[in-house]
Amino acid sequence: MLVLVTTIVHGADKLKYNKDIRPILSENCFACHGPDSAARKADLRLDRREDAIKFGAIVAGSAEKSPIIERIYSTEKDKVMPTPKSHKVLTAIQKEKLKQWVLEGAEYELHWSFIAAKKPALPQPKNEAWAKNPIDRFILAELEKKGLTPAPEADRRTLARRLSLDLNGIPPEPSVVEAFVADTRPDAYEKLVDQFLQSSSWGEHRGRIWLDAARYADSHGIHFDNFREMWSYRDWVINAFNKIYPSTNSQSNSWQATYFLTLLSSKKSPPDLIAAILPPTKAGLFQKNI
Ligand code: HEC
Repeated sequence: MLVLVTTIVHGADKLKYNKDIRPILSENCFACHGPDSAARKADLRLDRREDAIKFGAIVAGSAEKSPIIERIYSTEKDKVMPTPKSHKVLTAIQKEKLKQWVLEGAEYELHWSFIAAKKPALPQPKNEAWAKNPIDRFILAELEKKGLTPAPEADRRTLARRLSLDLNGIPPEPSVVEAFVADTRPDAYEKLVDQFLQSSSWGEHRGRIWLDAARYADSHGIHFDNFREMWSYRDWVINAFNKIYPSTNSQSNSWQATYFLTLLSSKKSPPDLIAAILPPTKAGLFQKNI
């Protein structure tokens, strides 16, 4: 078991806070050692490196001297963390990851949305011929690492249905499926993607996800649930999606696409990007909370 844990945790790369560590701490520790001062126990914060180190809970580079490691491995009921009363239990792999992370220097990272995206190097999977595009290479490299092989490609009707549900949120018209089945051009699939992106359903589907997140409703939803006139915002969101995607392909000067591409290529830091997108008062509020 120990050998297995060790090989899973000790890959070639250093553990990453956002990918490997934050989910463990967030699920098991932050309820009592996180940002909520009212719920905080022992006056200990583990969500900020500075606090965890100043408190003495983490000694970067030393697992023996770090109380968080001693506590998670403890077999004493009144010492082990998370507390048994919380009904949270760390797995052997999670414990090993935390230990390894402390040994590697216990580095934290900003929330991923504040870290500028970097283009990673393309992996070199063994079965290179299988990969039709750069994303395939990442998937295949990961499968190969786990000793798995990709499933065979689905038949054309299934592909058309999946694609339509993914992009437009509804099943495809039978005539569209039949045309795709009969299309022998090598880029038939890419053509079908374009066709679905041109459909007005694309904006409705994307827009719905966006509007759900923004809690869009045509009425107030509480008390008397009275009417409010919001549909023009809904239509604006749907139209924005329908304009921005097909038009970036055909190099039209859709303002949203141009605006965002200009901002991204300006290499602004993420907080400055937020300031550029939001009105000044909102941006100020947002930055205070980072
Ligand atoms: C349900 C609440 C709760 C959760 C969840 C929790 N703790 Fe604690 N923790 C406490 C309490 C209460 C104390 C103080 C009592 C004690 O020292 O045992 C404490 C104390 C500690 C201490 C010692 C602080 C000191 O005073 O030296 C460390 C280190 C610690 N916790 C780490 C963790 C880690 C790491 C996790 C997640 C893996 C975690 N805790 C999850 C409640 C919690």
